[in-house]
Amino acid sequence: MIREYDKLFKYFGIKPFKDVLPELRKVAEPHHLMRRGIIFGHRDFEKVIDALKTGKKFAILTGLMPSGRMHFGHKMVIDQVIYYQGLGAEIFIAIADIEAYAVRKISREDVINYAVNEYVANYLALGLKRERLHIYFQSNYAKEYYRLLQMFSRKVTMAELRDIYGEDVGPGKIMSVLTQMADILHPQLKHFGGFDVVLVPVGPDQDPHLRLSRDVADRYASELGLKRPASTYHRFMTGLLGGKMSSSKPESYIALTDDPDVAVAKLMKALTGGRPTAAEQRRLGGEPEKCPVYEMLSYHLITDDRELEKVYTRCRSGEMLCGQCKREAAERLRKFLEEHQRRLERARNIVDKVVDIPDF
Ligand code: TRP
Ligand code: SF4
Repeated sequence: MIREYDKLFKYFGIKPFKDVLPELRKVAEPHHLMRRGIIFGHRDFEKVIDALKTGKKFAILTGLMPSGRMHFGHKMVIDQVIYYQGLGAEIFIAIADIEAYAVRKISREDVINYAVNEYVANYLALGLKRERLHIYFQSNYAKEYYRLLQMFSRKVTMAELRDIYGEDVGPGKIMSVLTQMADILHPQLKHFGGFDVVLVPVGPDQDPHLRLSRDVADRYASELGLKRPASTYHRFMTGLLGGKMSSSKPESYIALTDDPDVAVAKLMKALTGGRPTAAEQRRLGGEPEKCPVYEMLSYHLITDDRELEKVYTRCRSGEMLCGQCKREAAERLRKFLEEHQRRLERARNIVDKVVDIPDF
């Protein structure tokens, strides 16, 4: 996995996020995902720091794929969005319902249900505020946005689409890609607020789209005044049993709507960075770097750096064994989910005030 990410630095020009931390610190306390290297890379993040320094307005644009339940692996993006909203950013969130329908082949009914009841409701319960917020379905937005994606069809070639997305790009994929270009670039249009600085926080799998959107921005620089977006990249979480965290494998993830008992049971069964025997672990210590339980703690359950450091040293020194560690993590998880799910009930009652839901 780490090597995969190295490739992004080496071939694709993504810069290490740690290099911009000192400058960011001058204007804002970095988020724990930034401090811990979970957000590991960026393009043009200096533009955001500059906006924060000068008080210039800026926007965040990101997208969600409504193809299943929302789990902790999906939470990092919205945590960042909420952080930037707190710093004064205007927030745009694209619900990729056209991509889910045309590329992932999910029914409209399921797509709309996942988007509203899983994603948007959880986002609000996590603390996303309604001010300076635009959440929209790709299929149900403004004409200026559609005009943009239609115009983009002129200056994107089949050769480059095949080069980026593989030989089998068809109409569904092309539609989704052009739509995503409009997602990423539309906040710059006067109609949507004319934001010069737009930051797109995503997982590294989305970087091909970011690279294309930067090229498209260049091609429409004089015609529409488009500029390149900035972006950041965060690490994916490991599945609870090792391997990938995947929506199609419920044992690999904890959903934000999992019953706390079910969630705790999944965590207790998770793989660890522990040693084969207790004696060995006391002698050698555990390996938190390889541990999905430690990941849950550092990504989501412990925001205080000193608290996390304590877990790390207790693990490394062999002072704490995995059973004990898991029980403590389970307590934190239970508390988090119980509080979150209480907020979720209220959030569900206002989702339709936050997003315009398509009727089919
Ligand atoms: N393609 C993204 C995914 O698979 C979803 C998406 C659509 C998106 N538009 C976006 C992500 C704009 C970031 C920015 O999850
Ligand atoms: Fe993971 Fe905790 Fe075991 Fe260390 S002690 S390997 S952090 S479960």
